[in-house]
Amino acid sequence: MNNSKRILLIIGGGVAAYKALEVIRGLSDKCYEVRCVLTKAGEQFVTPLSVSSLSGNQVSLDLFSHESEAQFSHIELARWADTILVAPATADFMAKVANGHADDLATAMILATTSQVVFAPAMNVKMWENVATQANIKRIAELGYSFIGPTEGKMACGEYGLGRMAEPEQIISELEMVQTSWTKRGKGLTAIITSGPTREAIDPVRYISNHSSGKQGTEIAKELREQGFKVKMVSGPSLTTPPTGIDVIKVVTAQEMLEAVSGSLPCDVFISVAAVSDWRVKEYSPAKIKKSNQQQTLTLKFIKNPDILATVAHHKTHRPKLVVGFAAETSDLEKNAKLKLDRKNCDWIVANNVSEEAGFMGSDSNEVQIHTHANTYTYPCMKKSDVAVTLTNHILESFNR
Ligand code: C5P
Repeated sequence: MNNSKRILLIIGGGVAAYKALEVIRGLSDKCYEVRCVLTKAGEQFVTPLSVSSLSGNQVSLDLFSHESEAQFSHIELARWADTILVAPATADFMAKVANGHADDLATAMILATTSQVVFAPAMNVKMWENVATQANIKRIAELGYSFIGPTEGKMACGEYGLGRMAEPEQIISELEMVQTSWTKRGKGLTAIITSGPTREAIDPVRYISNHSSGKQGTEIAKELREQGFKVKMVSGPSLTTPPTGIDVIKVVTAQEMLEAVSGSLPCDVFISVAAVSDWRVKEYSPAKIKKSNQQQTLTLKFIKNPDILATVAHHKTHRPKLVVGFAAETSDLEKNAKLKLDRKNCDWIVANNVSEEAGFMGSDSNEVQIHTHANTYTYPCMKKSDVAVTLTNHILESFNR
C-alpha cells in the first residue's frame, strides 16, 4: 500500500453515485488506500455495504456516531487523507462548502482538513448554469479547492448539457495530475528531529534512561511530513511506532544519536525533542556487576554526554536555518527556557512542564510555551498532535510559507 496516496472519498447524493463505486475500484487498483464517507443523500443511491466492501474499510456515515468517532474521529480522518475527493459533488453540497457549513460529517471534514480537496460535480445542466451555483464554484476555487469535470452529455433527466460527472477513468487520471500540482507549504524544506529517550548501558543487563515516550517527537515528525517536509527522525528506544513516509534512524545512546544527527546534516530545521541522557557511566562493565552480601551501597562514576542540540546549533558549516530545542522543566519554566535559548545557541525553545503534578511525561497531552529571542507564546494543555500542528505552523511562518 502506498501511504502517500490516501484518498478520502465523499460520496454525495446524486444518480452519479453509482460511478463512485467504479472510482473506488479504480483507485484501489492503483494502490491508493481509500476510505469513504457516505452523505445522508448519498445513502439514497448506494449502500454502505457496497461502499465498504469495495474500499475494504468501514464507511463513515455520521458526525455524531459514538462508535465511528471512537474508531476514527472526523478530525483524524481529515488529517489522514492526502486528498479528499467529493464525487459526486452536488449543487447543495458545494453550496454548503462555499459557505463554511459543518453540520454533517463530510462538510465538517472539509472544514477541518489542511489537505487537498477535489470536487467532481454532478447535477442537471440548469442547476450547473444557475448563477447561485456558479458563485459557489467561484468561491470554492478561491478557497484553493480543485475541480474535475463536469463534462457535457446526456443527463439522467433526459436533458443534454454540462453537468455530468466525469467518468471514473477521467477522475482517476486527473486526480493524479491535480495531486502532483498541489503544493504543500513545507515542500522543498528538510527537517531532522531527535525523539524519545537515550539509553546508556552500565553493564550487559543494566542501563540508565528516562521516561520519555517519543510521542511528541513522533507527532511533530508526522505533521511536518503532512506539510510536505522531507523528514528524518533520529529516535532513541521508544515504543512509539515510527511514522510512515519518514526516514527513521534508530539509535540507543546519546553518542550514537549525535553521530546519526551529524551525519544527516545539512537540513533547514533541526528540532531536538529527545530526552537525551545527560550522563553515561565512565567505565562500562563488560561483565554483570555482582553484589556481595556485605555490600550496602554501589558507587558508579558518570561522565557527561555530548550536548547534541548545542553541537548542531554551534555548527560552523552546517548550522540549520532554524534550531528548535525543548526544555522539560519541573520548575521556573520561563526562566530556564530563556537561559537555554542563549546557552545552547537555539533560535527557539519549546518549554514544557514535566512535574509530577502536571503529569504530561508519557501522556498524550502537553502544555507548552514557545520562546523565541523576541517573543513568548503560551498555549493551554493540548493533545501532542495539536502541539505538533502549532509548532509546525510557527515553523512554516518563519520560512514565510
Ligand atoms: O539541558 P537540557 O537537557 O535541559 O536541554 C534540553 C534540550 O537539549 C532538548 O532539546 C534536548 O533534546 C537537548 N539535549 C541534547 N543533548 C543533550 C542534552 C539535551 O540535544 N545531551
